[in-house]
Amino acid sequence: MIDQILSFLNDNFSEISLGANVFIMVLIVIGVLNRRNAKRHMKIMLTCFVVDMINLVAIEVRNAAINKSYEAFLSLENIVLIIHILVSTIMVVCYVIAIYTGRRLYKRGIGRKGHKRNAVVFLASRLANCITAFMV
Ligand code: HEM
Repeated sequence: MIDQILSFLNDNFSEISLGANVFIMVLIVIGVLNRRNAKRHMKIMLTCFVVDMINLVAIEVRNAAINKSYEAFLSLENIVLIIHILVSTIMVVCYVIAIYTGRRLYKRGIGRKGHKRNAVVFLASRLANCITAFMV
């Protein structure tokens, strides 16, 4: 039974990973729409962060994505892959900034502007990540 589940996951990895990517994108939109409800907003955004990171690590382990991206950078062969890696990196940095500024905003009520500005960059890079994930 476990063998069957593992082989199903292995055979359908790209579809599952892309599906998770789109699912999280939708969840992020729901989280932002709930931005006035701090507790619900935080729960949703932290869930998105955890699932996104699991998806990212799974892709890297499975495809040895780090090696691939390094080769692409050296040869400049695959522009879309390079863009995908760049926006994914920006996205991860913005996640970390969002958690820091979001926690600070919740606990001390400061830095709302910074949290909002970071959110704009995050949403643009996360959307670009979602679109380019289908092209690489
Ligand atoms: C990366 C994902 C995130 C995005 C895109 C995002 C976006 C936003 C936006 C647009 C606002 C409204 C700001 C305003 O209108 O002035 C907001 C509010 C807020 N966010 Fe986030 N956020 C994210 C993650 C987080 C996280 C991880 C936390 C906490 C751990 C957090 C905590 C808060 C709090 C406390 C507020 C204020 C809610 C209120 O008005 O009571 N956010 N967020």
